[in-house]
Amino acid sequence: MSLAECQIKISTTILLKKKKAREKITMLTAYSCPLANILDEAGVDIVLVGDSVGNVALGYKNTIPVTMLEIMVHTQAVARGVKSAMVVADMPFGSYQVDKNEAVGNAIELAKAGAEAVKVEGAGYIDAIKAIIKAGIPVMGHLGFTPQSVYELGGYKIQGRGAIHRARIIKDARALEKAGCFAIVLEMVPPELAKKISKALKIPVIGIGAGKDCDGQVLVTHDMLGFYENPPSFVKVFTNMRSQIKKAVSSFIEYTQDHPQK
Ligand code: KIV
Repeated sequence: MSLAECQIKISTTILLKKKKAREKITMLTAYSCPLANILDEAGVDIVLVGDSVGNVALGYKNTIPVTMLEIMVHTQAVARGVKSAMVVADMPFGSYQVDKNEAVGNAIELAKAGAEAVKVEGAGYIDAIKAIIKAGIPVMGHLGFTPQSVYELGGYKIQGRGAIHRARIIKDARALEKAGCFAIVLEMVPPELAKKISKALKIPVIGIGAGKDCDGQVLVTHDMLGFYENPPSFVKVFTNMRSQIKKAVSSFIEYTQDHPQK
């Protein structure tokens, strides 16, 4: 029986226990109440209101334009659909970089919208992360490829390939753990590096495009459900919703044509 079936609420303590017990943690994105409800009922541990909402649902070309208001509205919707999973909301670009007090204020807004934790990209804002945790809001870190820095990183590229860069990511992961993060996402790094970091840290490391040897896996739900013709190469596509929806819509059109008004 899954934790969702037992109606157990996922907490940072449970996630830590799962890591200790070598039980894999699952995290998927949702931006709406019905999808969040399906993920929750299926037993996913964490529902992430990712700023990927920008590319996936709002038609932006990347996550940079996503605003606090947009994440708040989607967090409210997701929180209404979830009973057991932990709801984590991304802090959007610009919401934590300017000033640590502003970061705390924004994290509080997300908590009021229904987030049980927030996710912050990079290790450059440790003071903001510590201040958010001090305010009582758990923080998930995010290293490797950090989409809000897509321009600085020069595009969607694997991170941590050279020795210097690899050492930097390990140092950043340790700094986030020391700052009090309860977990980190590691995106698009070589599997050996992800394995090393997962072993080195006490907190769970949740990978995306980082091989199988992390403490858990996260995917953008729309990618793994097959909404796109060309998902990122590391994504395992579990079904093809794009063709299923097209088929259903064609059936609807045909049905409508076959039943003309009398
Ligand atoms: O915004 C998002 O969906 C994310 C995942 C890719 C981890 O940050």
